[in-house]
Amino acid sequence: MSGTAQLKLSSHKEAMYLLLCMSVFWFLPLALMLVDDTPLECVPRRYVPYHSNNARLFHEEGVSNYSVMLLREDLQLLLVGAREALYALDLDDVSKMRASVKWEVTEKQNDDCQNKGRDPETECKNYIKILHLMKDNRMYVCGTNAFDPECDYMSYSNGKLTLEKAAEDGKGKCPFNPLQRYASIMVDDNLYSATSMNFLGSELALRRSSPPIRTEIKTSWLNEPNFVSLAQMPESDEGDDDKVYLFFSETAVEYDCYKKPVVVSRVARVCKGDMGGRRTLQRKWTSFLKAGLECPVLGSQLPNIIQNTYRWCDPEKHWEDCLFYTIFTPQSDTSDLSAVCVYSLSDINRVFAEGQFKTLVPLETSFIWVAYSGEVPDPRPGSCQTQSLDLPDQTLHFIKDRPLMDDIIHPIGEKPVLERRGAAFTCIVVNQVQAADGHKYRVMFIGMEDGTLLKAVNYDGEMFIIEQVQLFQSPESVKVLRFSDVTGQLYAGSDYGAVQVPVATCGRSSSCMDCVLARDPYCGWDTDAGSCVALSSTQRQLIQSVKEGDASLCPPADSVEVGNRSFLPGGSVKLLCPSPSNLGTTTWEQDGQRVNSSVRHQLLQDGLLILNASDSDSGRYRCLSVEHSKSHKYTATLAEYQLSLKGEPRLPQAQKESTSTVGLHIVIGLLVVSLVALLAWNFYNGHLPPPWSCSKMLRGKSYDSNGQEDPGPL
Ligand SMILES: *[C@@H]1O[C@H](CO)[C@@H](O)[C@H](O)[C@H]1NC(C)=O
Repeated sequence: MSGTAQLKLSSHKEAMYLLLCMSVFWFLPLALMLVDDTPLECVPRRYVPYHSNNARLFHEEGVSNYSVMLLREDLQLLLVGAREALYALDLDDVSKMRASVKWEVTEKQNDDCQNKGRDPETECKNYIKILHLMKDNRMYVCGTNAFDPECDYMSYSNGKLTLEKAAEDGKGKCPFNPLQRYASIMVDDNLYSATSMNFLGSELALRRSSPPIRTEIKTSWLNEPNFVSLAQMPESDEGDDDKVYLFFSETAVEYDCYKKPVVVSRVARVCKGDMGGRRTLQRKWTSFLKAGLECPVLGSQLPNIIQNTYRWCDPEKHWEDCLFYTIFTPQSDTSDLSAVCVYSLSDINRVFAEGQFKTLVPLETSFIWVAYSGEVPDPRPGSCQTQSLDLPDQTLHFIKDRPLMDDIIHPIGEKPVLERRGAAFTCIVVNQVQAADGHKYRVMFIGMEDGTLLKAVNYDGEMFIIEQVQLFQSPESVKVLRFSDVTGQLYAGSDYGAVQVPVATCGRSSSCMDCVLARDPYCGWDTDAGSCVALSSTQRQLIQSVKEGDASLCPPADSVEVGNRSFLPGGSVKLLCPSPSNLGTTTWEQDGQRVNSSVRHQLLQDGLLILNASDSDSGRYRCLSVEHSKSHKYTATLAEYQLSLKGEPRLPQAQKESTSTVGLHIVIGLLVVSLVALLAWNFYNGHLPPPWSCSKMLRGKSYDSNGQEDPGPL
């Protein structure tokens, strides 16, 4: 049970506060907890450890923080903004750099920044933060510029990247502090940015460049916000739908019932056509409304915090059906459960269009936020139908004091589509693919704090993680993730570099069963070619079964090649059998008899280790993999070995005494005595160096006698 329920309610006022809070976050999550059975350990079927072949990498020596990306499919380029540099990389192979341009801070700028108490080696550099395309094909770029943000125009022509050195003021567009969260979007050559407007980073606002307009500096509007992302929706025929959405988290003003401040996740909305009010709210948004976003995660005590969003719109549907795939991480470090919740744009818009507002009312000696039950002015605040300069004062005053909705936006299905413990999720991209069954599936690609990428699909409510691939050698956060429809590739950036990976690497499956059980909608088994290939690469009929993982469709598997292994009595042997799946279990058979785990037989992740081998260990070994998929259970032979005793008996390790070895020991004893005598004679005659190199010789020998580990053929 939650901690609050055990609190003694000492006064009426406290009881009311608690009720207010509980009604908001506790009841629904608690109720959901009882029925929720999402497997939290969601194991990726395949884990792909780091390998330089996993991804194509771009990294320039001495340059770090590859944290902004712009796809220029028209130029077949990926533009990347890093620390003091911008790159144009080949979109088909990011390891190939086409052009680059430096944007470094001057010595004077660095000194000024240092004089203001900032670190000259880290903070007083120019971190590129904003990179957008303009209608005239130039790009708009902003950098932190030694805590003095600046913007510029950049173009690519004749294979060169050029900055115009326009030196536009970047205050309110780009953060001063390279570590502060921000968001920006270019809409019709107009920059919308959510960032700090001052050096201290204390004045935070959502701002449009022209005509310049921003949020009020008021805690009821934005209270210590962390900006996450901005998204826009196209203008509709009715003319009232052209809006920009801001996702962020902030300290809640409405739940001051806790001793500690509570951070909540929000979505806010403004109208693109907003010009500010005539007298009230001059040059401020008159359409700014915000609402809480809830992503109820199993057992979490405090609301989860939004970290990243991806707007996914079905090209065949109306934009009102667009979805926001959103990443949440826990507020307290006692939990490590990340989640993905999906919100529909229509649910968000419904709350703004029909929901109740929150208002501040006095309660005894202080104030509390409650649902506003009075009359809402007409035109309704936040509807974009009236020219903002013509809005009546009544509407303006209303929105100025009450930008927060009482209703909370719930995710589709009222719960996360994916929850997982471990490394925190950092970013997400979603791609829809048509599988062989004719259905379309949305595949989530999730970048994580440990430098890996998860690939997951929700099949009718069942979350399936196809794989987890380590993109970067060192475990560092994936900072940015992009997908190109044109190349079908994903692009990821981290502090270390920029990488590119295909959405599918079907070749990782080498058997039909593995290919089908992988349930990857991008891949299928080509029986003629005998390989797992991308659906998009062939017209041929492929075997695929994403919903069921029905591997009975596969032709009988070819028998595996038998590896011959031999061992010496008392030695150890390892028979390799790496499993292609984390969801399968491997078992071993010796001449048809199951091998059980024992001191001498160790069943390892990647094989069988036989210690102190003896005659009885010879025989035919088979490694079997058993994998469950929905209703079926599949068994496959992964490896087969013929193990036999090596012809020549060798010296056993002198550990166990047995009658049969006593004779041998006598022989060894005699040999040793003669060896010592021989050595002594040699020393005496000066034929050998001093004795320590001898010990080296002996160690080499003892290694020899049990060094029979066999790497095997796999
Ligand atoms: C830049 O990268 C370094 C590691 O190379 C990291 O320590 C630092 O926090 C990064 N800075 C920003 C602003 O991302």
